Amino acid sequence: MYYIGVDLGTSAVKLLLMDQTGRIHNQLSREYPLEFPRPGWSQQDPEDWKRAVLEGIPALLRDFPADRVAGIGVAGQMHGLVALDREDRVVRPAILWNDGRTARQVDYLNHTVGRERLSRCTGNIAFAGFTAPKLLWMRENEPENFGRIAKIMLPKDYINYILTGVHATDYSDASGTLLLDVERRRWSEEMLELCGVRPQWMPQLFESWQCVGTLRPDVARTLGLPAEVRVCAGAGDNAAAAVGTGTVGDGACNISLGTSGTVFIASDRFGVDPHNALHTFAHADGRYHLMGCMLCAASCNKWLMEDVLRAGDYDAEQAAISPDALGRGRVYFLPYLMGERSPINDTDARGALVGMSMDTGRADLVQAVLEGVAFAIRDNVEVARALGLDIRRSTLCGGGAKSPLWRTILANVLDMELDLPASEQGPGMGGAMLAMVACGAFPDVAAACRALVRVDRTVTPQAELVDRYQAAYRRFRLLYPALREVFPQLAGAERE
Ligand code: XUL
Repeated sequence: MYYIGVDLGTSAVKLLLMDQTGRIHNQLSREYPLEFPRPGWSQQDPEDWKRAVLEGIPALLRDFPADRVAGIGVAGQMHGLVALDREDRVVRPAILWNDGRTARQVDYLNHTVGRERLSRCTGNIAFAGFTAPKLLWMRENEPENFGRIAKIMLPKDYINYILTGVHATDYSDASGTLLLDVERRRWSEEMLELCGVRPQWMPQLFESWQCVGTLRPDVARTLGLPAEVRVCAGAGDNAAAAVGTGTVGDGACNISLGTSGTVFIASDRFGVDPHNALHTFAHADGRYHLMGCMLCAASCNKWLMEDVLRAGDYDAEQAAISPDALGRGRVYFLPYLMGERSPINDTDARGALVGMSMDTGRADLVQAVLEGVAFAIRDNVEVARALGLDIRRSTLCGGGAKSPLWRTILANVLDMELDLPASEQGPGMGGAMLAMVACGAFPDVAAACRALVRVDRTVTPQAELVDRYQAAYRRFRLLYPALREVFPQLAGAERE
């Protein structure tokens, strides 16, 4: 049988067709627009996602027998607020995970309501990208739209709703709303009340591998699929990527170098970082995880290549960096192009290139950006290490993982072995694997991981380069504290 994995990303949806042995027979992606209506704002039209998925699936299946498809699993960008009215029409564009408009609401939640109360109710504090501050923002700034809300859900849940007609979500994605009591796996009544959210607006909660329904007959016809195809609840893209890279079991780690950069550490038990710099979320395997998320990772490199240097050939730009120059660069980059989530939680922070001189060239800038992202990932790994987690190896996925140079930089900056799974399509693969469990092909998520995930190769750090990067990281660490007080002033000018 075949299974479809859907990765509803920020720039595109990626679809893959996998069989029971984990072989990927076909994959394709469909892009959609991303709006930045003001600096730091980020939104998208859920109708664009719907169109991309409904057109993409028939294209994916063009040369394959559609009657052999058994299940669909959707992984999605997390935290985005999708609000539907009484007729299930989208109320406004979805406000995304990397949107920073809610600084005031985050401040209210963390300081007036208080971090302790939030952490007691949900296991987390407020970050600008989370869903609850967006609801508060909508209530204050768009009361008319807020008054029309009859249902709220997360991006991938909207796709599942289109496919099945069921308003559902899963625990991993629900964790990022700040409305879920993560430990007890139920909506927090206290948080719902605090945000003016009616309990009937909330989708039904499922484990990621549970089946939420089968295809609506009209949708089945549009897609050319049998109506019995099962749709599982799916997962937030990071939890799905963890499944797709085999990151299950206490202490297993996955790093994703995608639009965002994440460090995902699976855990058998619920546990909270006392400083709440890392999120405590439910995992798609029924357990928990800690996660640090930086808002711009591979997107920093894309920005430099495409928007600044106008260069299409990433490999050629990276080939100009000599191995000898690694860890010896004099230019440093702070990757906060959209503000930053973990670990600094600063919506006003912005990108910075520091240390340039008259002999700085293009290759130095490219190197600085690749290294700056790696250093910021290390900031998250260091928080986990300070909690006593002994992380020495990780899988690596996401678009940035395709660059051999970036992989080398990251392994040496982190002083960690990095395993590269055969497929770098972590979330889509995880989505398809969750669908397999929903269809009974495997008894549980861990069994699917054991059977299907294969590591292709490992990047090993080299002692001398680790030392060089250790010194460079110490210098990198000086930059944000030096600029922290400057950013709010720049943000003030931005708002004028
Ligand atoms: C995680 C997060 C991002 C998005 C990217 O908390 O906000 O990784 O899920 O799609």
